[in-house]
Amino acid sequence: MASTYLGALIKEIVDIYGALAPNVLLESALDDVELNLDRASVLGLIVTELLTNAYMHAFPTGTGRIDVSFKKDRRGHRALLTVSDNGICFDDNKQSKRTCVKLVKMLVQQIDGELAVSSASGARYLVTLPV
Ligand SMILES: Nc1ncnc2c1ncn2[C@@H]1O[C@H](COP(=O)(O)OP(=O)(O)O)[C@@H](O)[C@H]1O
Ligand SMILES: [Mg+2]
Repeated sequence: MASTYLGALIKEIVDIYGALAPNVLLESALDDVELNLDRASVLGLIVTELLTNAYMHAFPTGTGRIDVSFKKDRRGHRALLTVSDNGICFDDNKQSKRTCVKLVKMLVQQIDGELAVSSASGARYLVTLPV
């Protein structure tokens, strides 16, 4: 079950980074979604990259909140992964931001998904994938 794997992975990340940033709260809400091992692994890489970035870059003051959710849409044909933080907005024109988005985009393509990124208040990534 992808959600069990993702839940365990998120816990590992929280154990490591949460210890360094005790005032960053992470909330996760994970539906049970069936994914084969290959796709679940790629999703794990995406989550690891985005959570690591949020912990490392989003909160210069050391305080904030990260939300991860993995849900099926109402009709059950698609799964939606959202990773968002309420930290600093990252500069759209910054070359480095494009690097990070490029990597995630590559991973999303591997699982036939689509990526939407916004940075109006903190960073927000939405990955939609067929299930
Ligand atoms: N959640 C985030 N909030 C604010 N800035 C971010 C976030 N994620 C990435 N960034 C910015 O984008 C840059 C590129 O990220 P990335 O390609 O993952 O490289 P790295 O994490 O090795 O610096 C980061 O250095 C940071 O400036
Ligand atoms: Mg990074």
